[in-house]
Amino acid sequence: MRPSGLIISVVLLLALVVTPRLISSQEAPVPVVLWHGMGDSCCNPLSMGVIKSLIEENIPGVYVLSVRIGDSVVEDVENSFLMNLNKQIDMVCKQFSNDPNLEMGFNAVGFSQGGQFLRGLVQRCSGLKVQNLISIGGQHQGVFGLPKCPVGLHICEYVRELLTKGAYEEYVCACVIVQAEYWHDPLQEDVYRRKSVFLADINQERSVNTTYRENLIKLKNFVLVKFNNETVVVPNESEWFGYYREGQEKEVIDLKDSDIYIKDKLGLKVLDESKRLHFLSLDGDHIMFTRKWFVENIINPYLK
Ligand SMILES: *[C@@H]1O[C@H](CO)[C@@H](O)[C@H](O)[C@H]1NC(C)=O
Ligand SMILES: *[C@@H]1O[C@H](CO)[C@@H](O)[C@H](O)[C@H]1NC(C)=O
Ligand SMILES: *[C@@H]1O[C@H](CO)[C@@H](O)[C@H](O)[C@H]1NC(C)=O
Repeated sequence: MRPSGLIISVVLLLALVVTPRLISSQEAPVPVVLWHGMGDSCCNPLSMGVIKSLIEENIPGVYVLSVRIGDSVVEDVENSFLMNLNKQIDMVCKQFSNDPNLEMGFNAVGFSQGGQFLRGLVQRCSGLKVQNLISIGGQHQGVFGLPKCPVGLHICEYVRELLTKGAYEEYVCACVIVQAEYWHDPLQEDVYRRKSVFLADINQERSVNTTYRENLIKLKNFVLVKFNNETVVVPNESEWFGYYREGQEKEVIDLKDSDIYIKDKLGLKVLDESKRLHFLSLDGDHIMFTRKWFVENIINPYLK
């Protein structure tokens, strides 16, 4: 190779090595991932589609990924009722870990059950760099009742019927019904602790997995949004980690009076004391909010 050829090759090589670094060192917006709720899908133009556009309008150039479980939108909706959660979280962990767009870190917003699923992901999937985790109406202590189904979703009616028959029965829990995996019966706490295949595990009810705690503590912020006029989540306090006191279904205790906080099994106390645990509430029924509310309370403070 002649010297001039060599120089050109070196320059080209340098350009190849240096340019990507220059690009990535610019302040690129932090990517956002979304996890939808029960009966919804990744790409519903009336729900996740609106949220995705809203984030894109407010943060030019941002990469937004809406989780899809399955090979199609129809499968995605079905899987929101019927696919084992531990498996879903494993799948999403692999998908995110292999997505170069998420390599440098991202923010995560979960809607309804997507809130506790994303928390499970943060706790279990150690390689991910999640900055802010936002749960909009998630049920972090589970539910004891599924009072309402989205209109026209027969699969949901079927799930409700099975749940009332027994959420921890093997045939429901082994594990076909997603909602059974965060069913929390305060009248049978011991059964819940032993048999809940998802929620009792991520809430450290059986044993304490220090990885879960370490991963959650790494968050910059953990934001819990609760709806003041809930008719879907029972008890509504679960959206802020509150739940029925054991052995009855009337009196609810706040997170700060619960074992999970007092013993700090999950790191929530550490997050709270370092002002990284945020409790937001707004008037409205389950997951009802305006674009303005979302921009002012979620996008501007936590996604920009
Ligand atoms: C704790 O959680 C991590 C992450 O999911 C997992 O790899 C590990 O096996 C768990 N440890 C125990 C003792 O279950
Ligand atoms: C929603 O709940 C709040 C707080 O409890 C209450 O002040 C408000 O009147 C309720 N709004 C409706 C429409 O019921
Ligand atoms: C929230 O649940 C409690 C009982 O757990 C109930 O007394 C209260 O009315 C509920 N609030 C709303 C806004 O649904």
